[in-house]
Amino acid sequence: MNPVAQQHAEVALETHDSVRKKDQVLKEFKIYRWSPDHPNNKPYLHSYFVDLSNCGPMVLDALQKIKAEDDSSFSYRRSCREGICGSCSMNIDGTNTVACLRPIDADTSKPTTITPLPHMFVIKDLVVDLTNFYQQLVMQIHRKVLMER
Ligand code: FES
Repeated sequence: MNPVAQQHAEVALETHDSVRKKDQVLKEFKIYRWSPDHPNNKPYLHSYFVDLSNCGPMVLDALQKIKAEDDSSFSYRRSCREGICGSCSMNIDGTNTVACLRPIDADTSKPTTITPLPHMFVIKDLVVDLTNFYQQLVMQIHRKVLMER
């Protein structure tokens, strides 16, 4: 396992164990929202409150809980839930990372702020346009194949 992922998992388990013993631990998540259905509306940060005593340990768990229980109109990407695919890449508290490997900060005195990856075109909420990324990836693979011949 990647050492950073291992470290994140250990932090997440410690935090998760401490909050699960309590009745209710409400954590605020401020999440970037924007929809092409309302293109004239400005993007904004929407506050959601998640009970950490009834939630998985990673930020992706909180996002899934929000979508399932609070707001089904909220959009983000995810796939492997193991830090492999990069689908859940986003900016969490100022750091570009993957939400499935980022432990929830259990400090309820401050919110966790989640925005899309910077310098990317936003399709909706936390979903960004990856067309340019995939074009560059294909070109790199193509170049590598040509160099190996
Ligand atoms: S869901 Fe694949 S990296 Fe997070």
